[in-house]
Amino acid sequence: MADFEQYPFGPGPQGALADAYAVRRDKDPLGTVRLPSGCTAYLTTTYEDTLAVLGDPRFGSDINRPGSPTMFSGFSLFNTPGMLATMDPPEHTRLRRLLSGVFTPRQVNAWRPRLRALTAELIDALPAEFDFVRDFAFPLPVQVICDVMGVPGIDTGRVRAWSDAMLSTSSLSEEEQLGAAMEFHAYIAELIAEHRDKPGDGLLATMIQARDGEDRLSEEELVTNTLILFLAGHETTGTALSRSLLRLLEPRTGYQRLVEEPGLIEGTVEELLRLELVGDSPFLRVARQDVELPSGTVREGEAVIPGVSSANVDPSAFPDPDTLRPERQTAHLSFGRGAHFCLGANLARMELQETLGVLTARQPNLRLAGRADDVPWTDGILTVRPAKLLVRKD
Ligand code: HEM
Repeated sequence: MADFEQYPFGPGPQGALADAYAVRRDKDPLGTVRLPSGCTAYLTTTYEDTLAVLGDPRFGSDINRPGSPTMFSGFSLFNTPGMLATMDPPEHTRLRRLLSGVFTPRQVNAWRPRLRALTAELIDALPAEFDFVRDFAFPLPVQVICDVMGVPGIDTGRVRAWSDAMLSTSSLSEEEQLGAAMEFHAYIAELIAEHRDKPGDGLLATMIQARDGEDRLSEEELVTNTLILFLAGHETTGTALSRSLLRLLEPRTGYQRLVEEPGLIEGTVEELLRLELVGDSPFLRVARQDVELPSGTVREGEAVIPGVSSANVDPSAFPDPDTLRPERQTAHLSFGRGAHFCLGANLARMELQETLGVLTARQPNLRLAGRADDVPWTDGILTVRPAKLLVRKD
């Protein structure tokens, strides 16, 4: 337990999960790491420990409490106060209740036909050869989150650039990240001001109403969480889509199977979420009292990183973990668990099901335009994905 390996580990070759996770899972499943802030934390690597941490309210997410261990020191998206993901009850419960009504399965299903039409329109308009990441995987979720928020015509290019900058872990300096965050923040504040004069009928209107009408959401919470919804609402889904298509096309048997058996889409998407949301988690939990986990004890005040990507390939929960098997029954942890379970999970699932469903139906011959080994990967960004993915339609 004495090693303090530096965290995050970074990805392995071609966006794979770093080998360190499997080594630790075998040798020291609840070992410690040194965080970028200089603090230390336990890192879970097994499914059992990760599930136990995520579902246990004795672990808090508010790392802005005085004296709390943090992942990053100074500015970081993941230290932002007033953000749902780093709040504890009762504030978390209040804000979560306000936002969750918009993301119910019923609400989300109501967007399905529109998404299907949008996807078909987008894919039909693209040339024979195109960059799936630039032209499809990111523009589509941006469009969807703008619809959800009820903000058509947002400057999507700038939203993308700010989001990338804020998620950077090493390629940009802290000042550059802070600069991007401040610009993004100012843009959202302006958007909210405009929306107050001319309210739409999306989530932003609901959030503003809650602030103005019943004073349940502070101004800062309003701006911060709007920003987070725009960012979380497209960055993760864009990453999942880009990685998923590459997995299906290399080898191409995965894609072909969906062309021939479209009924497998739901199970396939769950497997893609399990296998392709790979990376070092930026979220911390802090024990509010001593907690016994299956692999050891975490004392009050100590921090734990729920190692979700590692849990998702733990062979004791997922036999033959690297193989995509649509029929698996064990639930992956890519959307977390418990109180902080991803607010957008229904939406993200639906986006993946519809886009991959429409793609395989309309473009049964889609294939990589080059070699998978030549695909460039992002560098220094917490969400690890192809930087560019050239594909051919014909
Ligand atoms: C494939 C896509 C996605 C993945 C893998 C993902 C993953 C996650 C995970 C693991 C958490 C839990 C963090 C924690 O436990 O501390 C989370 C929380 C959250 N996600 Fe997602 N997410 C995705 C898409 C989305 C979308 C589309 C939205 C918004 C529309 C969204 C909004 C949020 C919010 C607001 C939270 C904080 C919830 C809370 O703390 O109560 N996510 N997400």
